[in-house]
Amino acid sequence: MKVTLSVIKADIGSIGGHIAPSRRLMETVRSHVHRHGEGLLIDSAISHTGDDVAILMTHTRGPGDVEIHRLAWDSFRMGTAVAREEGLYGAGQDLLKDAFTGNVHGLGPAVAELEFEERPGESFLFFAADKTDPGAYNLPLFLGFCDPMNTPGLMLAPQMSQGFRFVIMDVAHTGGDRVIELEAPDALYDIAALLRDTERYVVESVWSRATGEQAAAVSTSRLHNIAGKYTGKDDPVMLVRVQRDFPATGEILAPYSIGPFVAGCMRGSHQMPLMPVRLNAGISYFDGPPVISCAAYSMREGRLTEALDAFAHPFWDTVRDRVASKAMDMRRQGFFGAAMLPMAELEYTGIVEKLRALEDRFHVRANHR
Ligand code: 13P
Ligand code: 13P
Ligand code: MG
Ligand code: MG
Repeated sequence: MKVTLSVIKADIGSIGGHIAPSRRLMETVRSHVHRHGEGLLIDSAISHTGDDVAILMTHTRGPGDVEIHRLAWDSFRMGTAVAREEGLYGAGQDLLKDAFTGNVHGLGPAVAELEFEERPGESFLFFAADKTDPGAYNLPLFLGFCDPMNTPGLMLAPQMSQGFRFVIMDVAHTGGDRVIELEAPDALYDIAALLRDTERYVVESVWSRATGEQAAAVSTSRLHNIAGKYTGKDDPVMLVRVQRDFPATGEILAPYSIGPFVAGCMRGSHQMPLMPVRLNAGISYFDGPPVISCAAYSMREGRLTEALDAFAHPFWDTVRDRVASKAMDMRRQGFFGAAMLPMAELEYTGIVEKLRALEDRFHVRANHR
């Protein structure tokens, strides 16, 4: 049976700044999905990571389906109405357009979708990040799917030994999707050369070379490319199928112990370490640190098990402690150097205006040579 997994997420308002949505908002989204998903969905699960609400859905209608996307869009609109009633901050933040136009691509919400013939014991991971952008997944995906130091399955499991195909998107290109396909391990250094530039090149999907099956799907939307100005960070979601032809769950999770520095955190304008957190966690230190949650699922004929919280295990407490130290170390240098994003990536136009005003006051000294 061919099943589609769709996750669509949006920030539609949160309590006390950019911390987390209210219970009533969550309940409103959940009940709208339940009521209007009847006959459309096989199953669904609503969760939040920081201030971002994610609707995970299973169905048989394929990716980009108008009714599935409309259901998510309408649910977010309902949630936004509650956010306004409650005075939540940034109500409707990620709903950048007024009207739904067939699917949510380019409208603000982030989308990741996978369609596949369900395997016996189909297992997958649903990742959601807050206060960062989709480039945050570049390193974990590279290590998980390309590096035998991280993923022994590449040496041990015959069905993985051919490696994986990466579809990488140039997210700076706004006139249509500009993508490149590269295969690991053959093009390993080319893949690395692109993925190091997390603000420009983003993994969109990963495929098994042995079977042609899709392993991973990442949301690649960049909000400031849609809105033309800062409206919040992209806060990407990702689906990764695991086990058998794909890396094991632990091989996909292991890279998150690094706590790599990623773009985001306060005002979307800093470099801060990515902290693995529990499901439905809020945000606090310096509007961050950037966080990532992971819900592990199994499914049968599209019916989901309960979500297992992949970062709840005590192991990750040590990682969290280390990431917190890294975050505080970086914050000690404030605006200086590597702590903030380069000019082109700064999400606020205020500084651009400030520098423009200062330009006029520069003068070139008379040459005394
Ligand atoms: P969000 O994109 O999560 O709303 O964060 C916005 C922000 O500016 C935090 O400082
Ligand atoms: P089990 O023997 O517990 O199924 O584990 C297999 C595996 O691949 C773990 O990485
Ligand atoms: Mg927000
Ligand atoms: Mg957010």
